[in-house]
Amino acid sequence: MCGIVGYIGRQQAPPILMEGLSKLEYRGYDSAGIAVHDGHKINMLKAEGKLKNLAAKLSENPVEGCVGIGHTRWATHGAPSDVNSHPHTSEDMTIAVVHNGIIENYLSIKEELSAKGYRFVSETDTETVAHLIDFYYKAGNDFFDSVFMALDRIEGAYALGILCKDYPDTLIAVRKNCPLVVGIGEGENFIASDIPAILHHTRDVYFLDDNEIAVIKTDDIKIFDREKNTVEREVFNVKWDIDAAEKGGYEHFMIKEINEQPKIVQDVVSRRIPESSDTIDLEGINLRKEDLEKINRIYVVACGTAYHAGLIGKHLIEKVARIPVVADVASEFRYKDPILDEHTLLIVVSQSGETADTLEALRIAKRNNARVLAVVNAVGSSIAREADDVFYILAGPEISVASTKAFSAQVVALELIAFHIAMEVGKMTKEEFAEIKEELYALPAKISTILQKDKIEKLLAEKYLQSKNVFFIGRGLDYLISMEGSLKLKEIAYLHSEAYAAGELKHGPIAMIEDSTLVIALATQEELFEKTLSNIKEVKARGAKVIAIALEGNDGFKGEVDDVIYIPRANKMITPILANIPAQLFAYYVAYGLGTDIDQPRNLAKSVTVE
Ligand code: G6P
Repeated sequence: MCGIVGYIGRQQAPPILMEGLSKLEYRGYDSAGIAVHDGHKINMLKAEGKLKNLAAKLSENPVEGCVGIGHTRWATHGAPSDVNSHPHTSEDMTIAVVHNGIIENYLSIKEELSAKGYRFVSETDTETVAHLIDFYYKAGNDFFDSVFMALDRIEGAYALGILCKDYPDTLIAVRKNCPLVVGIGEGENFIASDIPAILHHTRDVYFLDDNEIAVIKTDDIKIFDREKNTVEREVFNVKWDIDAAEKGGYEHFMIKEINEQPKIVQDVVSRRIPESSDTIDLEGINLRKEDLEKINRIYVVACGTAYHAGLIGKHLIEKVARIPVVADVASEFRYKDPILDEHTLLIVVSQSGETADTLEALRIAKRNNARVLAVVNAVGSSIAREADDVFYILAGPEISVASTKAFSAQVVALELIAFHIAMEVGKMTKEEFAEIKEELYALPAKISTILQKDKIEKLLAEKYLQSKNVFFIGRGLDYLISMEGSLKLKEIAYLHSEAYAAGELKHGPIAMIEDSTLVIALATQEELFEKTLSNIKEVKARGAKVIAIALEGNDGFKGEVDDVIYIPRANKMITPILANIPAQLFAYYVAYGLGTDIDQPRNLAKSVTVE
């Protein structure tokens, strides 16, 4: 959601904090701020809007010091404004705090402290934490104990970075249900909500676990649990390169990440199906025949784009393994009292591995003795650490808020899981798999072919730029891709767009079709082509403009649609990955034409760590 960075060392903190924040801006971006300890006192600068506003303030009023915390915000409590931006401080600037997450019981604490004479200036929940620590500190406790006492009182989810005026050599970091890492340097140390923020400085990090507190000094890091016992933690070495978190010549992260898809898909496939192999190597994932025999129910649970990948996973597991699967969005699943026991397999899908609802779905499943398999991108994320088994897609950092490359990699991962289950339960033969393997190996080149012809999507985006309402329609797997295509257009182009099962259109939404309504019809599932074509005719007859996404060589559209985007032919279970690429490109170029903020669309956040 929001981004946190912190520094303690011998260098000036402000440039390090600002550079770190620039790497985190994609997480939240309605305001930003820093607090820096100059050895005597804490100085603070905050600004509403993008980071450049804070940078402008900083060049007018430079602050100095070798210890600091910074924050980029995605508003939850209180509108974006200078005063609501983080850091938040106690009234006399003794304590400064940056916070990701939500303090659920802040109102009652606020009332209690107000009655004691504390004056609140912002509408945020975070300010309560600064005052509460200050309260215990002024009562005679040291910095460390005051933080612990405040933690005993606050409820909710939080990653915190905390400074105290009287401790110029200490930075305290706390984690509960929101990600936080401690970066290990030489003669300097860091904190960050996300690794890219500190990757320029160090590749060695400690992942904090929930309810852990790190006391960080220039040459020392100590981690404590809530009983104040010290905790030993292994150093995690980040393998991916900083270039992966930079634009590398592309105008936006989104188009860079779209173009990374051939390589990422190739990597997922080759890691799991070595060339010499006739099976899928799911080493470390307990999905063997004997494990599956214990399972009588499978759920796939996720949010947003990851949920759409999950829907394809559900479809394929049912299709090839003939095992019923329920797919649900995590925010619904967690409140449904789902049927879970030791015979249940829950597959959670998450790019960030930190989405609050998905994480809670996982925890509910674990509390009920279900097995959890996580399909995750971010290594070491909360979901990855808490799941029984992890299928890492290893797509590298995805910076664009709208997810593209993670989706393709998630779908490939779920396909591999589906094919593997099918083989284990005897529903797919080695010969059948050999065909699929060939198709999977050919997939990256086919994605590249679509990407090389992206002028088509660009031209069509320009042609239909003025559309006010868009419908995506399709049947079967095409319907699932319609959902993802429609979401992309909403997210980055702010266009009203709906996805409908093509056959369901006539049961209501067709009333919305009028002259020039844009309909994007996915018709890549050959056996359903005739049916979808009838639905296309229905909307055409009512004045719609239709773009079809179809298989190369299918000329059944002649005279029936306004434009066609062709994709290479592939096995029908693999085709959705290809069918989705034109929809990604179309959304990108529409947003480009409309001049929206493509990588950081309004109101959205990359990693949603609140409910
Ligand atoms: C947010 C992002 C989406 C993403 C969803 C789930 O809404 O803006 O792009 O699909 O969260 O995120 P996850 O990290 O769990 O895949």
